[in-house]
Amino acid sequence: MDKRLEEIRESERKSHIEMYSNEELYNSESWLKKPIKTVRDLIPLFDDYEKLDVLDLGCGVGRNCLAIAQEYQNIDCSIDCVDILEIAIEKLSKYAAEHGVLHCINGIVKPIEDYKIEKESYDLIIGVSSLEHIDTKDSFISKLTEIGNGTRKDGIVCFVINSQVKEFDKSSGVEIPAQFEVNLSTEEMQSILNKIFDGWTVLKSTVQRQQYDIPRENIISDLRTNVVTFVARK
Ligand SMILES: C[S@@+](CC[C@H](N)C(=O)[O-])C[C@H]1O[C@@H](n2cnc3c(N)ncnc32)[C@H](O)[C@@H]1O
Repeated sequence: MDKRLEEIRESERKSHIEMYSNEELYNSESWLKKPIKTVRDLIPLFDDYEKLDVLDLGCGVGRNCLAIAQEYQNIDCSIDCVDILEIAIEKLSKYAAEHGVLHCINGIVKPIEDYKIEKESYDLIIGVSSLEHIDTKDSFISKLTEIGNGTRKDGIVCFVINSQVKEFDKSSGVEIPAQFEVNLSTEEMQSILNKIFDGWTVLKSTVQRQQYDIPRENIISDLRTNVVTFVARK
């Protein structure tokens, strides 16, 4: 693993361990407060399914996939949940049990880049604020292609991906390296998505400018990003 990747992974690991140890899912003022609206809006689209297979890449503690499990717990619903952090999958199992949906959840501790997606195996594949942490641009592109192939006919992909990220030391204003393995321009990100999912029906494609503070090693970072949301049906 090269040095930059190692540093990003370590910094991400620390901040997520702290978040997942100290904040309670759905009972927090942080981003763990509730499932994202883009995913909530997709849930009714599977109302007539008797069997539902979902993949959540970089699932964290289950903020989004547990909402899906809750809705479809009484059909044959199976959600493969992949995260690089053991604590994420441990907490996911705990929250799944508390919500009575453990039977729908398969927790997998693995980097997204190493998780092999079989052809046409999922009805819904989501990646929320996680795909930009795939190790390289090449494996990001090949994973998106694999996601496309892994989606069944009429299935849906749902991505939220940071692009064109810049970070600044909040106290000095000095720019610091952005802690994202894949940090593409917004234009390139959209062009890759449009190319790989060419011929699909795009249900949502937006870019939202966001700025927020995020703790990094010894400093607070002022992070600026264009958040790309992309939802498409095969
Ligand atoms: C910002 S959190 C988002 C979690 C979840 N998708 C959500 O929306 O609540 C990013 C998650 O991706 C995981 N992650 C980061 N890089 C990863 C990788 N290469 N493979 C798998 N998971 C990764 C982190 O451990 C973390 O749980």
